[in-house]
Amino acid sequence: MFTSAISHDHATPVVAVATTGMSGVRRRFGTLTSAWRDVGPAGLAMALAGHLPRPVGHMEWYSVQEVPVGPKHVTEPWPHAWAAGEDDLEALIAVGHAPEDELRRRLARRDEVFIACDENGRGIGYMWYRAGNWREDDVEFVLGPDERWGYDLYVHPDWRGHRVASRLVAVALVGLHARGVSRVISVIDYLNVSSRRSARHYGSRGVTSIFTLATPWAGLIRERPVGVARGSWSAYRRPAGVVRRAPSRTREAR
Ligand SMILES: CC(C)(COP(=O)(O)OP(=O)(O)OC[C@H]1O[C@@H](n2cnc3c(N)ncnc32)[C@H](O)[C@@H]1OP(=O)(O)O)[C@@H](O)C(=O)NCCC(=O)NCCS
Repeated sequence: MFTSAISHDHATPVVAVATTGMSGVRRRFGTLTSAWRDVGPAGLAMALAGHLPRPVGHMEWYSVQEVPVGPKHVTEPWPHAWAAGEDDLEALIAVGHAPEDELRRRLARRDEVFIACDENGRGIGYMWYRAGNWREDDVEFVLGPDERWGYDLYVHPDWRGHRVASRLVAVALVGLHARGVSRVISVIDYLNVSSRRSARHYGSRGVTSIFTLATPWAGLIRERPVGVARGSWSAYRRPAGVVRRAPSRTREAR
């Protein structure tokens, strides 16, 4: 009895660690296989690079996206979505992504946020917008006064695949248009297939592809505007990084 109690007490954490370890391995394997399936060899290389310890180096590969903001965005009655503020903090927390102190910081710096809620008023998704500059890893993007940087689009896992993101963004674009915004820029990681698919529904288009390879002291950046066969490479110092104006407007966004 005593022996079995001891072995059980010892076995429980061992089993827990083994189970967690196995699910971690399964998850990583799943990430690698979907990167290979959805994006090909470059995707697999990026997914593998994602496991490098950050102090050694890291790679980023993303598409800079543009959404022209105008009067033509079509909003749907569901989900209920609006421009949120301090009074909506509880609903923003319920979305379940950024912690409360981070949400408060964003509101204090006057970032604009649009929220989608279920029929009980519980937050199920949000998207944030910033004016001025945005730093994406090593690249500082400088925006025009009528431009916004769209960031942290997030839909609660229970609600994904129901067009919450695209419908919420349509409401946001109408709201931003009323505030004089004419273009939203954002980035989407090439490995984030659901985000790329969702972005198509609200008229987002890739304008430039950016790849960075960074060590603790220096980095390399490759920038390739859409439609240009070869990208241009340049080197930069870290942590300073590089500064870029938001990509030129495409004809649709003029
Ligand atoms: C990316 C994200 C915002 C999309 O939200 P969403 O409301 O599920 O988006 P949509 O329903 O408009 O469409 C997502 C696309 O991916 C598919 N999809 C994504 N997740 C899915 C899921 N859990 N179940 C079913 N389909 C899913 C959809 O079928 C759809 O593709 P399709 O239009 O070709 O059929 C959401 O998956 C999310 O919050 N992900 C984590 C955070 C993130 O990656 N944010 C984006 C950063 S750029």
